[in-house]
Amino acid sequence: MSHKTIIPQPRVLDIAPYVQGKSAATGGNRVTKLSANENPHGPSPLARAAYIEAAGALEVYPNSSHAELRAAIAKVHCINPERVICGAGSDEIISFLCNTYAGIGDEVLYSQYGFAMYPISALAAGATPVQAPETERHTDVDALLTACTDRTKLVFIANPNNPTGTMISEAEIARLAEGLPPQALLVLDGAYAEFVEGFNGHAALVEARDNVVMTRTFSKIYGLGGARIGWGYGPEHVIDALNRVRGPFNVSATALAAAEVAVQDAAYTEKCRVENAKWRGWLRDELATIGLPSDESFANFIVPHFESAEAAAAADTYLQTKGLVVRALTGYGLPAHLRITIGDEIACRAVAATLADFMKGARA
Ligand SMILES: Cc1ncc(COP(=O)(O)O)c(C=O)c1O
Repeated sequence: MSHKTIIPQPRVLDIAPYVQGKSAATGGNRVTKLSANENPHGPSPLARAAYIEAAGALEVYPNSSHAELRAAIAKVHCINPERVICGAGSDEIISFLCNTYAGIGDEVLYSQYGFAMYPISALAAGATPVQAPETERHTDVDALLTACTDRTKLVFIANPNNPTGTMISEAEIARLAEGLPPQALLVLDGAYAEFVEGFNGHAALVEARDNVVMTRTFSKIYGLGGARIGWGYGPEHVIDALNRVRGPFNVSATALAAAEVAVQDAAYTEKCRVENAKWRGWLRDELATIGLPSDESFANFIVPHFESAEAAAAADTYLQTKGLVVRALTGYGLPAHLRITIGDEIACRAVAATLADFMKGARA
C-alpha cells in the first residue's frame, strides 16, 4: 500500500486502524446489532423531527459558534456555556485534545483497557501512548500516578469505562487529578455517564480544578451515533486552545439541531436509562446462572467472562449464527470476554437463550 515518494509521517503508519464492531452476522433471519453500544430505542422522537426539519436547509452552513446547542447543554447540566465545545462525536474532542497538548516526545497516558481512540489520537498527534495496568478490569489510580513522567501531557480515563463497563469513585478520580504532574491534563470521558443515575460525569471536578476536562457524547443514551455529535467541558484556558484547533464548521446543522432537542428531552433520556438498567441487571443475572459471570457494569453493555479465549470465540460465532452480533474484545487484550450491548427486551432474551444453548453444548 505504500508509495515510493509520497510518504506519511512515520507515526501514522504505527497506528493500528480502529476496528468497528461488526454489523452483519453469518446467519439468522434478523440481525440484531449489539456490538457498538447504540441505543436500541433510537433517539428521542423530538430530536429525530428536529433533524429532519434541519435537513430542509442543507445549503446553509451551520452556526460556527454552536451557541444554541452550548446554551441547551449548559442549561441542562447547570454549567457555563462559554466553557463548552462541540465536536463531530466525542472522538473529535479527543483528537482536538491530543493535537493541542501532545506532540513528538510527549506521552499520553491511559489505562490498560482504555478506549481505542486514545492511542490512535495520541499517535496521530505524534505523541507516545502509554498504558497503565488495571486491577481486575478497574482503573487503578496508583498505577496511573506511578506511570506519570515529566513528559505526560494527557491522561485519559473513561468512567464508566469502555470496554469493561466498570467505574471508580469520584474520590479516586479527585485523587488522580490532585496527584498529576503540573504539565498534565486529566480527561474524563463520560460517554456512558448518563447511564448512571444522578451522575454528571464529574462536572463538579471540572468546575473546581484547572487541570480537568470532561468529554461527553450524543452517540450513546441519546441515540444519535449516526449524526456524529459530542461535546467537552473544561477550564477556560483549555476550551480557548481547543477552539483554535477546531474547524469552524466541524459539526453539521442537522446534528446540532437534533442534539439541542435531545439534551432537553429529559423524560425520554430517563426512560432509556431505566430500561437499560432493568435489562442490564436481568441479563447479567441470567448469564451468571449459566456460568458466565461479569463485572458490575455501569454502562449500556455487559462483558461476560468465558472459561477461555476459545470458548468466547466459539460463543461469538454461535451468536452470529442466530443473528446476534456482539463485540469480541481480543483487540483490547480481553480474549476470554465478549462485550454485549444491552438491547431491547427481545434482544436481551434472545442473547440469554442463545448463550444458554451454547453453554449446554450447542456449537456453530
Ligand atoms: C469511552 C468512549 N469514549 C468516546 C467514544 C466516542 O463516541 P463518539 O465519537 O461517538 O461521541 C466512545 C464510543 O464508543 C466510547 O466508548
